Amino acid sequence: MRDYSMCMDGRPLILMSNRGPVGFVADEDGGLRAQRSGGGLVTALTGLIDIVPAVWISAAIENGDFQVAHEADGDFPIEGAGVSTRGRFVVMDAEVYDRYYNVVSNPMLWFIQHYLWDLSNVPDIREQELAAWDDGYLVANELFADAVVEELGTNPDAVVMLHDYHLYTAPASIRARAPEAFLHFFVHIPWPQPDYWRVLPPHVRNAIVQGLLACDIVAFHTPRYARNFLLSCEDLLGLEVDYGALTVTVDGRTVAVRHYPISIDADGFTAMAAGPEVRAEESTFLRRRRRHLVVRVDRTDLSKNILRGFTAFDVFLDRHPEFREDITFFAMLQPSRLDVPEYVEYVERITALVSMINTKHGNTDWMPIELRFESNLPLAITAYKHFDVMIVNSIFDGMNLVAKESMLVNERDGVLILSENVGAYEEIGAYALGVNPFDVEAQAEALHQALTMPYAERRARGDAIRQVINENDIAKWLQAQVMDIEELRGRAVLPPDAA
Ligand code: G6P
Repeated sequence: MRDYSMCMDGRPLILMSNRGPVGFVADEDGGLRAQRSGGGLVTALTGLIDIVPAVWISAAIENGDFQVAHEADGDFPIEGAGVSTRGRFVVMDAEVYDRYYNVVSNPMLWFIQHYLWDLSNVPDIREQELAAWDDGYLVANELFADAVVEELGTNPDAVVMLHDYHLYTAPASIRARAPEAFLHFFVHIPWPQPDYWRVLPPHVRNAIVQGLLACDIVAFHTPRYARNFLLSCEDLLGLEVDYGALTVTVDGRTVAVRHYPISIDADGFTAMAAGPEVRAEESTFLRRRRRHLVVRVDRTDLSKNILRGFTAFDVFLDRHPEFREDITFFAMLQPSRLDVPEYVEYVERITALVSMINTKHGNTDWMPIELRFESNLPLAITAYKHFDVMIVNSIFDGMNLVAKESMLVNERDGVLILSENVGAYEEIGAYALGVNPFDVEAQAEALHQALTMPYAERRARGDAIRQVINENDIAKWLQAQVMDIEELRGRAVLPPDAA
């Protein structure tokens, strides 16, 4: 692999995602503090900008972002990244952002792509939703496209990488104004089967697929999502697709549809797990631990299947009273998207269920579930190091990097319970305890199986997973894409002197 870190002057990549690597918030002294953003996409792309210089365009979201955008005239440095890597905020009207993010992207698109709608009841597509599409999503995407076109003006050779479901219509707008640009789109979440897209009116779903088809490459984490995308092009738009070559022909252009399983910066994450911030959390954490520790770390997202995970633990405690007082389920849940009513209700349901289970099984000395609504990376990593069982039981999930991060640094030969509908299942499912996410009984049984598994088997399974993660880390994910980009555009991604 090329030593990308030597490339200090060019910015061969224009990255774009709704959420950027950091948000700026006011600190106690009235100054601004950069705060690392959460979520799998930022985790992965942060690994990427460690090895490739880039300008990372994202929406101004936190209060301080607007000030930074104003003062920095667009650009700001990203702490910890190479000196050529810069951030750039797209600033939009609060109402536009609300419609684009809180009405269309979440929940509408997110719920479709994770099969979360309860279709006999929701969604109703009414004036508000249609207006949110026209005056929110399309407008926001136009503003993102403006920023890319401006960057291409000074760096016409840059490869443009757009990320995720917030930005589906931007590529068509960029293509119209920069016909020669090389556009690469990565969808980090599942792509459902074509019929499920029919929840959306034709003009909306067609604009989404056509927007993506303005790119040269449309990429997903797994072959299943790539295939579903090809099916959607054929079924929804009547286009010619080649399932063998993984291509779509549209307006005389050929679009490549690819799959690259995203991963983590294995060395960097291992080093962080051994670092002082994690060590500072460890002694308190270990003092409180019981003999067995079950862990989950998630955003409070409906796709994560948090309720069924706790219900499975309830069933497990009913069936196996011998574990009482000897086990804790530590759940760190990062509040997420709380301007969307469905997410607020989900947090309420989680709180009520945990309280019910703790009252039912617990006593004055023992609380079966320790629930934390917070985002604390050092504490999360501490839990990763010391779990006996890690639960990742998502309903559907694009990849799920928590599964990879946690298994990489675990020191107790912990066992991974993994939903078969998570992207990571294709890579490491054979060594995890695979579960159907709706089957609560199977999840309760998997808990018991994991907790009674001989240590030699725990170790063998964990080692196999660690080997896959170390081999397929973020550098390999990037390298595979760079090779495909170079092949398709017939030119190097990096300036020649950077190779
Ligand atoms: C997932 C999505 C990302 C998103 C992240 C956090 O990982 O794929 O695009 O940034 O969740 O969600 P949020 O809405 O807080 O950005």
